Amino acid sequence: MESHIKLLLNNKIWAQEKLDEDQDYFVNMAREQSPEYLWIGCSDSRVPANEVIGAEPGELFVHRNIANLVVHTDINLLSVLQYAVEQLKVKNIIVCGHYGCGGVKAALENHHLGILNKWLRNIKDVYRLHIEEILASGDETMQLRKLVELNIKEQVLNLAKTSIIQRAWKYEQRPTLHGWVYGLEDGILKEVFKMDYESEIDAIYRYSDI
Ligand code: CO
Repeated sequence: MESHIKLLLNNKIWAQEKLDEDQDYFVNMAREQSPEYLWIGCSDSRVPANEVIGAEPGELFVHRNIANLVVHTDINLLSVLQYAVEQLKVKNIIVCGHYGCGGVKAALENHHLGILNKWLRNIKDVYRLHIEEILASGDETMQLRKLVELNIKEQVLNLAKTSIIQRAWKYEQRPTLHGWVYGLEDGILKEVFKMDYESEIDAIYRYSDI
C-alpha cells in the first residue's frame, strides 16, 4: 500500500472513533471555533502542536514555520496574528521552539541554502545580538541550546513590537505572550520568557497613538 493511502484510511478510523464517542462531534465542531490560544511553533514534524499539550481540535489556532520565527514582513504570520487577536480574541499566544532545532543549527553554519538563507538570517541576527551570552554558555551543544532559547525570547519580543499586540494590550489587557521550549529528548515543555500588557518594551518600538 502506498503510504499516503494509509493516511486516508487512518483518517476514516479516527473520524469513526470520534463519532463512536459522540455522534454530534463534527456537527458541533463545524459550527464555530473559539480557541483560547494561538500557537506559533516550528514546522518540525517531531513537535506536533496539539499533541504535546493534549489539546483537542478547536482549542488551538496554529501557525508554524521553520524555527518559529515572528518576522514583521511575513504577511502569513501577520494575518494569522491579526485574526487570532482581533477576531478570535485569544487570551494567550505561545511561541514554542525546541532544542535540536535544525533551522537554528543551520543558521549557525555557513552553508548557502538558497532562499532559506533569507529566513535563517533572522536567527543569525539573534546570535549577533546575544553573542557574549551564547559563547559564555558552554560547549557547542550548550551554545545551540542557548541560541534556541534566545531565539524564542526574541520572537516573543517581536510579537510585542507589533501594533496588533500593542493595541490589544492597551484596550483589552490581553493576550499574554509565552515563550516555551520543547525537549525532543524528554517531551517536556519549559517556560523561557513571558510578557503581558504590563510588560515594558523598548521605547523605540512603542506606538503612542494606537
Ligand atoms: Co525546529
